[in-house]
Amino acid sequence: MEKQLWQKAKEFITGFYKETGKNKHAAKERLQLIHDEIEQTGTYTHTFEELEYGARAAWRNSNRCIGRLFWQTLHIFDERKAKTEEEVLKALERHVVFAHNEGKIRPAITVFRQSTGGQEELRIWNHQLLRYAGYENKGDPHSRSFTKKCEALGWQGAGSDFDLLPWVVQIGNQEPVWKDVPDHCRIEVRLFHPFIQAFKTLQLKWYAIPIISDMRLEIGGIEYKAAPFNGWYMGTEIGARNLADESRYNKLSAVADCMGLDGTAHASTLWKDRALIELNAAVLHSFKEAGLTIVDHHTAARQHRIFEQNEEAAGRGVTGDWTWLIPPVSPAATHIFHRSYENTVLSPNFFYQKAPYKK
Ligand code: ARG
Repeated sequence: MEKQLWQKAKEFITGFYKETGKNKHAAKERLQLIHDEIEQTGTYTHTFEELEYGARAAWRNSNRCIGRLFWQTLHIFDERKAKTEEEVLKALERHVVFAHNEGKIRPAITVFRQSTGGQEELRIWNHQLLRYAGYENKGDPHSRSFTKKCEALGWQGAGSDFDLLPWVVQIGNQEPVWKDVPDHCRIEVRLFHPFIQAFKTLQLKWYAIPIISDMRLEIGGIEYKAAPFNGWYMGTEIGARNLADESRYNKLSAVADCMGLDGTAHASTLWKDRALIELNAAVLHSFKEAGLTIVDHHTAARQHRIFEQNEEAAGRGVTGDWTWLIPPVSPAATHIFHRSYENTVLSPNFFYQKAPYKK
């Protein structure tokens, strides 16, 4: 019998029943069933309630996430029965439409079947369901290696800075199947600035929803290697990282130019900081104008403080990764900067895993 798995299952089920105020007797009964199932099959299957609680708890335990206040609102799509690539692709489509919700973005996760010895593994190759391709001198450098893989599979991008990558699904050792993102899922925002007219000449845009699709969800010792999930964007993710990092879209000089900033020869004029602020203002403004949920870093930090208070009140110490929780713009203007966090990795949780195309 799988000792490790049984230990983890016990820990998870006990926690679940305790936290949700279910009676102890029911927990014992459930554990007996799980024990038998593991003995007979080498693994066990979560009930929907366990999966729902587990996925939400995994969000709550995500130490790097500033948006965790809303962990209990996570919507779970149980797609453990999806067998074919077509069924998986359909489920991804449904996920995006649900998450978009005409702009009022809803946090959601679609959980595909668990990885269990014997069963063919199901993997999504994409890092996020919406993401731009990266070429030698165009697009998002972060996507370069995955873009090459897509091209090897027969996909061809337009070669622009903002080509949405296709969805790539693989079952077992079969050849992966790819499909262009359906039109109604291509939700993007053109970026413009509330008063700097020249900003729009930069022709920048970003996609509306961050849907991480390459992380492994672990619940009670069970691994879900395909479990794409989304929240909504915090403005700085786009304005201070994706579009600003030198190793990403590297747009600060271009922003400074259209602002008419001089003094860009000297770091001490703080031109980078000025450009950063206006770029971030444009991101927040454009999402708002488009009716799409987005949060600024000051508000997100305040929400995280409420999360911290809730966790303490519930008798759980809050865990966190300070280096990720502080926003990349004006970190010391948030309370997060001025305290510390225990970076203990609790279970359930989300984990990085090796990209299947790098095997
Ligand atoms: N930082 C990543 C990006 O810019 C997204 C990570 C998840 N973010 C979120 N708000 N849930 O694409």
